[in-house]
Amino acid sequence: MTEPVVDVHLTEEDARRALRGDALVGLTADPKWLPPRWFYDARGSELFERITELPEYYPTRAERAVLEAYAAEIAALTGARTLVELGSGSSEKTRLLLDALRGHGSLETFVPLDVSASALREAAGLIAADYPGLTVHGVVGDFTQHLELLPAAQPRLVAFLGGTIGNLLPTERAKFLGAVRDVLDAGEWLLLGTDLVKDPGVLVAAYDDARGVTAEFNRNVLHVLNRELDGDFPVDDFDHVARWNAEDEWIEMRLRARGETRVRLAALDLDLRFAEGEEMRTEVSAKFRRERVDTELAEAGFALTRWWTDPAGRFAVSLARAED
Ligand code: AVJ
Repeated sequence: MTEPVVDVHLTEEDARRALRGDALVGLTADPKWLPPRWFYDARGSELFERITELPEYYPTRAERAVLEAYAAEIAALTGARTLVELGSGSSEKTRLLLDALRGHGSLETFVPLDVSASALREAAGLIAADYPGLTVHGVVGDFTQHLELLPAAQPRLVAFLGGTIGNLLPTERAKFLGAVRDVLDAGEWLLLGTDLVKDPGVLVAAYDDARGVTAEFNRNVLHVLNRELDGDFPVDDFDHVARWNAEDEWIEMRLRARGETRVRLAALDLDLRFAEGEEMRTEVSAKFRRERVDTELAEAGFALTRWWTDPAGRFAVSLARAED
């Protein structure tokens, strides 16, 4: 096996600095908020894996169904020599794409990019072991910051799956899609997974499961703050809230202080007060319609080439071509 190369563009010190900045900005804002990126320490990543197996959480299964049905077509349409996967996590669904590209005969290089060095090394090692002859070039980085660094042979197919684009706010989304377009040459490809607008009851259940796994995932961000910023959040005094915001067409996760709560984050020398019932937003998960995906891609310089959904129409995978 060829050992995977891993470039580190984001060190633990960079991550800690980013967390300090985000916590300072978000927790002193009114209303308080935190970016969802900080859920994903080892425990948070594990909880997210458990979420993907919950009966209520359909997006992972729906996206997998799309990729199972259309990976061969994606390979034939793109003829990609390089697969870049942003926010690759466990890279499990990636195998469907790797298999199809290998079957098509074009695949040379896999470039997984993730903020977590440990998750990335593990995933890169597993893929390298299972795909002899494949060059695996991992990048530890933030997909909103380190895109200009993506190595390898063209045409490249950049996959951003799981509906993670929905965790970006509209202006961040536009910036991100523009940055992806900027690193690509005309004729290269973006494969984008987006969860779709549907019955709010189905959506809320997916983010507020009966077993409380999502609630634990949500509260995990408080454990992260306590550990990384020397905080004293009484984690169990916060309730999980998942709400459909019909105007913005996104799910919001929040943490609600059960009673008045004082918190100190010693590493920031920051003292906070939560009023009884005060809610802090911890995640936005936008849900899309085809027209919005089409428009946002076009505004970034991509042409929507194919739009596939699972049979129930819950989740879409879009293939878009970088335009001149
Ligand atoms: C797959 C990372 C996009 O927004 O659905 C799952 C994360 N949050 N349950 C999503 C998540 C709550 C998730 N992403």
